[in-house]
Amino acid sequence: MTTPLPTQPTLSPPSSSSFPSSRPVVLITGGHSGIGLYASTHLALRGFYVLIASRSAQKVNEAIEGIEQDHPELKGKGVLKHVQLDLTDLKSVRGCVAEVEGGVGRLDVLINNACLHGGGTPYLILPNGIEQMVCTNFVGPALLTSLFLPLLSKTTAEMGGDVRILNVTSDQHTAAPKNIHFTSLEDFNRPYSKNPSGMAGCRVRYGTTKLLLNFLTTHLTSSLLPALPPSSSSQPKPILALSLDPGWTLTPSSLATVPSFLSPVLKLFLSPLEKGGEVLVWGATSDAVRSKALGGKMIGREGKVLKETGTGGIGEGERERAREVWRSLEEGVWEGR
Ligand SMILES: NC(=O)c1ccc[n+]([C@@H]2O[C@H](COP(=O)([O-])OP(=O)(O)OC[C@H]3O[C@@H](n4cnc5c(N)ncnc54)[C@H](OP(=O)(O)O)[C@@H]3O)[C@@H](O)[C@H]2O)c1
Repeated sequence: MTTPLPTQPTLSPPSSSSFPSSRPVVLITGGHSGIGLYASTHLALRGFYVLIASRSAQKVNEAIEGIEQDHPELKGKGVLKHVQLDLTDLKSVRGCVAEVEGGVGRLDVLINNACLHGGGTPYLILPNGIEQMVCTNFVGPALLTSLFLPLLSKTTAEMGGDVRILNVTSDQHTAAPKNIHFTSLEDFNRPYSKNPSGMAGCRVRYGTTKLLLNFLTTHLTSSLLPALPPSSSSQPKPILALSLDPGWTLTPSSLATVPSFLSPVLKLFLSPLEKGGEVLVWGATSDAVRSKALGGKMIGREGKVLKETGTGGIGEGERERAREVWRSLEEGVWEGR
């Protein structure tokens, strides 16, 4: 990374099972595997309390055991914790937010990292009426983010936090059809091809969910964050939203995006885990995010600006499409209509 990372506060054990409000808190979805696991580990090492939001307590507890074995300095500190979250179940999304609001009371960094990948994820309409990849990769994270805004706002206004929302996207957003609009649930659930569960169909569906996540960054930057209530503190840091692209990275899920006989070839093109994971750690900790005014942008490895997802770069066209997506969520998609 080109930009030095700031020093985080020294770790100290929490005084009770809940987290003390004096420590920066990060919540990362899917932080028990792949790129998310790297980020959970390295953010814990840098002094964050790390809430790993996952549908499996067992997977998270095993991941925490592994982290503590590799980094004995974290053992017994209680700085990593599971929070229940299933992004395909919007009641679970609400429950996750309530648990963090009630039990932790602070959130400095929200990382929307969890996803269903583009290889072999069947096209499936969930009982809530939303297609599973769309719900996991976009609708669930958008609701989670929206419900967390009051706590994020409180963290910067009352606790002086350096608050950031990081949406983990991908260059695959370019696989989404051009000039696509989302004005109804049917638009979100579009299968795009005759075989939406096949390799090519999955890729378009996955890319479209990443485009939608970029729209979330845009809409947060242009509308939702500026509209938060004014702070009582004199100089709070504005909340920033970024899209982050970790780039092609070797994880079990990225390998599974091609048939197994092609895995050895794909491995040649995938970078080691730390290359992708560092992008998330950078997004959460780098001073350059503020000093270079990177809010609203899409950032790749070494802090490189890949695409301006927000105000100024793409212009009113993208902002309007992002507003349209948000309107559709509020007008019924969150309720499966
Ligand atoms: N790897 C790459 O080359 C690459 C490139 C560009 C962007 N990315 C992005 O980087 C992020 C991480 O990718 P990765 O390769 O590290 O994948 P990964 O290890 O498969 O991580 C995905 C995580 O999402 C979780 N998840 C899936 N469905 C969920 C649900 N319904 N509720 C809550 N969590 C759920 C998974 O948990 P379970 O264990 O419960 O399934 C898993 O922990 C993704 O956003 C991906 O799009 C990756």
